[in-house]
Amino acid sequence: MADGGWDMVTEFEPHEGNTRDLRDAFSRFVSGVTVVTTASDQGPVGITANSFSSLSLDPPLVLWSPYTGSRRFPFFEHAEYFAIHILSADQEYLCHDFAKSPFGFDNAEVSFNTENVPLIENCLARFECRKRAVYPGGDHVIVVGEVKNVQMRDGSALSFFAGTFRELSA
Ligand SMILES: Cc1cc2nc3c(=O)[nH]c(=O)nc-3n(C[C@H](O)[C@H](O)[C@H](O)COP(=O)(O)O)c2cc1C
Repeated sequence: MADGGWDMVTEFEPHEGNTRDLRDAFSRFVSGVTVVTTASDQGPVGITANSFSSLSLDPPLVLWSPYTGSRRFPFFEHAEYFAIHILSADQEYLCHDFAKSPFGFDNAEVSFNTENVPLIENCLARFECRKRAVYPGGDHVIVVGEVKNVQMRDGSALSFFAGTFRELSA
């Protein structure tokens, strides 16, 4: 293998036996990190998600993709209202808290909107959404939300690349 592995190219057809490699290939796409929150019959819940994308300006639409096999999927599958929070570089702890538990609000400063959606303060950007559509996407679904309210501030982003968190400065 060459220095640092830069010359090594891996090529494969995805199948049941190499999902680890497929996941690694997907992780070559640099993303931000979000926390998606909603109200549930068990109280406020959230999930760390990097499947967020902006979708449309007119109408204002965003999307994200929850995994259908996750224990907290039922909360998000039925959520009529939800909020997507883009984490700043100094909010990595929120990423870990909500990756671990849907009830990871202990270290978050939270308020609630009129639909009882938990809103985390001091994020880089926050989109309060109403569910517009849910499309099948293999073992995930694609949730499209219409953005009803936006908050944003300046700062460095938390980014995720190849399983590693980094600070991305403006
Ligand atoms: C950086 C990062 C990004 C993630 N993105 C997603 C995502 O887009 N969709 C999803 O369903 N889960 C995502 N997860 C996993 C969830 O945050 C959470 O760990 C998972 O739902 C835990 O499984 P459980 O709900 O069965 O307890 C991500 C986790 C991390 C750390």
